[in-house]
Amino acid sequence: MCIRDKLYLDGPYGRRPGKNSSSLSQSDGYTVSLLTIDEYLRQPVAERLPYYQREGRLYHVMMSQQFPRPLMEEIFGVANTLKAMSHDYEGLEFLSRLLRHKRAMLYFTQPSTRTFLSFLTACQLVGITTGEVQDPALSSEYKGESQEDAIRVFSSYFDLVIMRDPKPGFCEYIAYRQDRTGFSVPILNGGSGKDQHPTQALLDLYTMHRSFQRMGGISGKRYAFVGDLQRGRAVRSVMYLLANYEDLDFYAIAPKGFQISPDLQLHLGERGVRLHFTDQLNEVLPEVDCIYMTRVQDEYDLSGESGKIDLANFSLTEENVNLLPKHAIILHPLPRRQEISSGIDANPRAMYWSQLRNGVYIRAALLLYIFGKNEQLPIIQEKSRS
Ligand code: CP
Repeated sequence: MCIRDKLYLDGPYGRRPGKNSSSLSQSDGYTVSLLTIDEYLRQPVAERLPYYQREGRLYHVMMSQQFPRPLMEEIFGVANTLKAMSHDYEGLEFLSRLLRHKRAMLYFTQPSTRTFLSFLTACQLVGITTGEVQDPALSSEYKGESQEDAIRVFSSYFDLVIMRDPKPGFCEYIAYRQDRTGFSVPILNGGSGKDQHPTQALLDLYTMHRSFQRMGGISGKRYAFVGDLQRGRAVRSVMYLLANYEDLDFYAIAPKGFQISPDLQLHLGERGVRLHFTDQLNEVLPEVDCIYMTRVQDEYDLSGESGKIDLANFSLTEENVNLLPKHAIILHPLPRRQEISSGIDANPRAMYWSQLRNGVYIRAALLLYIFGKNEQLPIIQEKSRS
């Protein structure tokens, strides 16, 4: 039996056909029994994580827990270099040759502006050619093709799939299935339901890293998180990443019923994060170094529960923004609604426009890292703020 057949038949989550399992037919006649998505996601995260790397290197990007601090900071260094090299023609020329031999598929079945466009721009920066499906109604899914089959097609034509999907854990499940087809390509999670948005979190941490560079770094700071902390995937992923640092206070400011979910609270507690729960925004503002605002994720409402929230209690205005210390930074994954008044945009604390620009460099850095091209870049010293 060859190694490939062995992986199919004895892989970590492969098994004999049984009730509720599905199967993949191989061209050589083998049938591989697969776990269902529920069965797969019932496996502890610690057991799933090793399957998202190859030879000790990041391969699929699924969740923040894949990024220990040294890896994160290595990617920040690559992003700094990309940022510096993007300012002149020679730098752009050099970068555009690095991954000219690669093709990426952008498959976004949930709306996006920043993640889609910054991944597209990041691909262009490092020379990757792209294809896209943003409206499944214009693909053969309209004719009844499953998403699993559609992604199997993408992996036949492209070297990488970047995807967003409203179903929590679906990207992970696709990676698991895809790895058992013999045509595995890296899959990057660009947002999976209420679950995780790891590349958003990386660019958020990168913005904090740069902003706090001359203030002792990310450790030892006080962070406020405001809004829908239960269903916001970006804020969940940010908290997981921040928990890699030491001596942190988190102020969780959320409406009743929208607080940080128990699984994440447990993780933060285990990492020594001091958690403070409140719904009194103005009392917390003078205490924090960073405030991370979020919108209410009403697309996940079951029965109009978001409509009962008094949003004024979870908003930054031109009045209360000045309760923040002068050095504090304001972040938001965007899009925003009323939770940050546009009158604050010119406030020196407002970092959310720099934050979204950082998304291009972080995502390009990640692409270089995945394809092992980061080591071909010169090392360029960091500049602080923005
Ligand atoms: N922050 C973010 O994910 O934005 P988009 O939904 O526009 O991609």
